[in-house]
Amino acid sequence: MKKHRGKPILKITDAAIDAYAEEHSIQDSDELKQLIESSDQELEYIDMLSGSLVGGLLQLLIKISGATSVLEIGTFTGYSAIKMAEALPENGAITTIEMNLRYQDLAEKHFSNSVQAPKITLLKGNAQELIDELDITFDFVYLDADKLRYQFYFDKVLPKLKSGGLLVTDNVLWDGTVLNPLEHKAQAIADFNAFVANDERVETVLLPIRDGVTLIRKK
Ligand SMILES: C[S@@+](CC[C@H](N)C(=O)[O-])C[C@H]1O[C@@H](n2cnc3c(N)ncnc32)[C@H](O)[C@@H]1O
Repeated sequence: MKKHRGKPILKITDAAIDAYAEEHSIQDSDELKQLIESSDQELEYIDMLSGSLVGGLLQLLIKISGATSVLEIGTFTGYSAIKMAEALPENGAITTIEMNLRYQDLAEKHFSNSVQAPKITLLKGNAQELIDELDITFDFVYLDADKLRYQFYFDKVLPKLKSGGLLVTDNVLWDGTVLNPLEHKAQAIADFNAFVANDERVETVLLPIRDGVTLIRKK
């Protein structure tokens, strides 16, 4: 990934360690390597894409937990949706929500070209509204959008997550700025981290991988 939107970076891990970890973890399929390449050509910035380390973690968690029903909030160009679909069994299904028209088009194109297409449903619109319309119990949720509202999505999604199900949230360290939040996004994520760590309904582990990934298991 060559480009970055230029948010302040307080690197929380060493670049060489990151590269070593990626090299020694599950690799992207050829299809996903092509998706990254075409996203990079089509867009100015693709730093929102989760990447192979977080993607590999999602795959292992899906396989270990035996999840078959997945919800993703924040599709972007479809990388993590396809990555998770690759880990699902044949009868598995992922619903992924995206509100940005340009990203919807790119994701749709990538999904239609994908061998994983039968497992993926793209919902176009604002997740804040669309989640209420989903009458599905999910085994696994990946929350990767709208960082100001993690708390809102947690409250909405928890009743739709099965007992023993997993909710995975990305960017929970927000480049390390949650340690001393000086702007509203860092503050919202820090507040969410504090809330969820003390919520008796769930068990939580915050992993300092990449930009921070929290694993939340519903009791
Ligand atoms: C970090 S990116 C997702 C990256 C993706 N999971 C991946 O790994 O490739 C977040 C995405 O969420 C979308 N988004 C932000 N707010 C949203 C909302 N309220 N409803 C639906 N999508 C939203 C953005 O347009 C963006 O594409």
